[in-house]
Formats: sequence, C-alpha cells, structure tokens
Amino acid sequence: MPAPDVIRVLIVDDKIELRQNIKRLISFEESMEVAGEASNGQVAIEMARSSRPDVVIMDTHMPVMDGIAATEVLSQEMPECSVIMMSVEGEHDLIRRAMKAGARDFLVKPFSTEELLETIKNVYKTDQKRRQLYQVSPSTKDGAGEGSRRKDHGEVVTFFSTKGGIGKTVILCNLAIALAKRAGARVAVVDCDLQFGDTAIMMNLYPSRTIANLVEEPPPWSSQLIQEYMIRHEESGVDVLLSPSRPEYAEIVQVEHVEQCLMLLKEKYDYILVDTIPLFRNIELSILDASDKIFVLVNLEISAIKDVKLCLDLMANLNYSGDKVKLVLNKGYPPIGGVSADDVQGGLKREIAAVIPNAEKEIVESINKGKPFMLRPEVHGTELGKAILKLASVLAGDRVGQAQEESQGSKSLFQRFFSSK
Ligand SMILES: Nc1ncnc2c1ncn2[C@@H]1O[C@H](COP(=O)(O)OP(=O)(O)OP(=O)(O)O)[C@@H](O)[C@H]1O
Ligand SMILES: [Mg+2]
Repeated sequence: MPAPDVIRVLIVDDKIELRQNIKRLISFEESMEVAGEASNGQVAIEMARSSRPDVVIMDTHMPVMDGIAATEVLSQEMPECSVIMMSVEGEHDLIRRAMKAGARDFLVKPFSTEELLETIKNVYKTDQKRRQLYQVSPSTKDGAGEGSRRKDHGEVVTFFSTKGGIGKTVILCNLAIALAKRAGARVAVVDCDLQFGDTAIMMNLYPSRTIANLVEEPPPWSSQLIQEYMIRHEESGVDVLLSPSRPEYAEIVQVEHVEQCLMLLKEKYDYILVDTIPLFRNIELSILDASDKIFVLVNLEISAIKDVKLCLDLMANLNYSGDKVKLVLNKGYPPIGGVSADDVQGGLKREIAAVIPNAEKEIVESINKGKPFMLRPEVHGTELGKAILKLASVLAGDRVGQAQEESQGSKSLFQRFFSSK
C-alpha cells in the first residue's frame, strides 16, 4: 500500500517510448509512483477503475477511445482523480475541449522533465480538497466505487406538491444526478406517480421492468430482488424503479408494496428519492410517513401558496417536524405578478430550503432530449445548477457544498488558463 502522500500516476499514451520516458522520470521521484500504463482511453478507464490513481496523464489522440472521451468518463465516474492532458497541438479549441471534458491542466509536447513533474505536483496539490471531499484514502482506493462516505441506512426523500406540473419530477431527476455525481452517493429513484410517471422519459430510460412487474413477485422480498427491477441510468449511476408502463396497471401496486420497497432500498442506497402525485390517499400518506425528508414544492402563484399553507398545516397535524418538511420554491425568480420569494417565505412563515430559478429554455430542452441538465458540468455553475446543488447540500451537507465552491474555483482556473495564453 502506498504512503498517503505518494502521488499515484497512471500514464496513457499510444506511444510506448513516451510512456517509458514518463515512467522513468516518475521512478526517480520519491513523492510519485506509477499506478499503471495504458495505450488508449478504453484501457485507461478500466485500469483507473481498478487502481484508483490520483493523477492520470493522458494523450489526446489515441486509437479505440481518444483522451477527451476517456477524460469525460473519468471525471464523471471518478471525480477524485485528476486528469492532465497532453498533446503536440496546443490550440485553444483543443485545450478548451480538454478542460470541458474535465481535465485539470494541459501539457504541450514536447515538455521538459521539470514541466511534467511540477504540473503533476501542482494539480495534485490543488485537488487535495476535492479528494478529501470524495474521501478517497489509500485504504478505500482498493474498494473501487466505494470512494465516498457511506451511511448505515439510506434516507427516504419525498417530493410532494399540492398541484401537478409544479416541477417535482424535473427537480427530483436533477437532484438525483447531483447527489450521485457530486457527492458520490448511491441514489435510487422510486416513481410513485403510478399512472403517469415521467422519470423514464426525463431520464431516457426504457421501461423493460417496472414496479408493476415487481409486485407480481411473491413475498418475502429482499433488497436483492428489488435491485433486479431497477433500471440503471448509465450516465449517472442512479437506479430507478419506474412506474408501470400503462396507467391501468397502477392499481395493482398496493400500499404494502411501496412500504416494503422503501424499507428494503434503505439497505442499499444513501438516498431514495420518491416522486408522488398531489393527493393525500393512503399510499401517499404511507410514503410521507416513511420519509426522512419531504420537499414540498411551491411556486409564485397565490393559489399554489394558499394550497401549500393547508398542506403544511396538515403535515404539522401529522406530527412531521419542521426539519422533516422542507419548502422548495420552483420558478422562484425573477419575481412575477408582484410576488417574490420573500413574499412566499413571509406568507408561509417558513424558510425556503432552495429557490429554483425560472429557466424554461434549459429545462424544456433537457426534458425533450431526455438528458437532465445536471449531467452537463457547465450547468453546475449557473443559477439553475447552483440551486440544485443547494438542494443537494440540504441532504448531503458539506459534501456538496464544498463541491459547489470547487466548481466556482475550477471556473476561475479555466479562465486564468485562457487569459494567461
Ligand atoms: N424551474 C423551471 N423553470 C421553467 N420551467 C419549469 C421549471 N420547472 C419545471 N418547469 C416546467 O414545468 C413542467 C412540469 O414539470 P414537472 O413535470 O417536473 O412537474 P411535476 O410536478 O412533476 O408534474 P406532475 O405532477 O404532473 O407530474 C416541465 O415540463 C417544465 O417545462
Ligand atoms: Mg411529475
């Protein structure tokens, strides 16, 4: 096992001589060691999954899978590992694409020994905070995919509103992705909008298995069994238990099925995000009871605010604590029709946990493409992205909060890089 302060470097280039040169230079450095070498992006990803390097030095042009594509996968799957790209070309466009893919620095070939070693050390130092955030220590590096802190039991987080079309599913899908990708959490989504669930379409998932198939399984159920009915959203690692593919199958799903499901999912996931419909029937009440947190959505319309007031009163009568029930204001700014976020907060006498801006173009486009906007790292620094990260930090605390600071830091790094050219 390496000493904690030894930088483990994975070298990726299709030219064997270059790999050997870099390997030799690193072997003279006490503070570094070679974690492996690969001749293309595909092999690099596989090696990184098993050896969990701190730094990857990656060529841009390679056969099978080029360095930009591989960097994109690595920065999404292993954000704790820093990629330095290298190329004989140093054009802005290539550097821009590398940075967009998640590279932390860029070396133009040929580079000096000093340049190489200094860059590795600098990137490693700058990314120290990021590694701490994802809590990858030498002992956890061995457990691939287990890089982040794990909780004993997952939290059930339910999205509820008093009206349809208020933004529950859009926000839920993007929050799920933020939690999985920014906090490294294991996230499940359960679509309990049993007649007209939208998570499949919003996350571009094919409903080959749904909760309607699961409920045909004879009891007793296990968490492994439920796992078989979940559909993996490959781009984020979020697992989704989809609602039935046809509305007429909704009625076969009973209160006990949902209760059992939520209980078992807690064993395997850090967060179980549940989508609902705006009704207080037995099934919704049992979901709300089983929830650790409830995000109640509201917008700037007086009628919605009036309904949410009734809803919050009812939840207080159900003895749900103020900490369990959190208010989320969607399309909260700019103010409209003379109503602002402050008015909502004042009117409901409740703090708002997160205010999501009105972002019609971004959201409609992402829905129509089946690609939630939080999959795009460049959105994380926008008002919309920051609002979702704020919501994520309500659940995951500092793990996301620090990542948020980091995203702002990396933006200025990006800008510094270009202004120095
Ligand atoms: N912040 C936002 N800015 C602009 N438009 C938004 C925003 N949030 C949601 N929308 C729009 O509102 C529509 C409804 O969102 P969504 O389907 O998530 O609501 P919902 O509460 O899940 O509705 P339902 O109860 O019918 O399932 C979306 O199609 C989107 O166009
Ligand atoms: Mg919905």
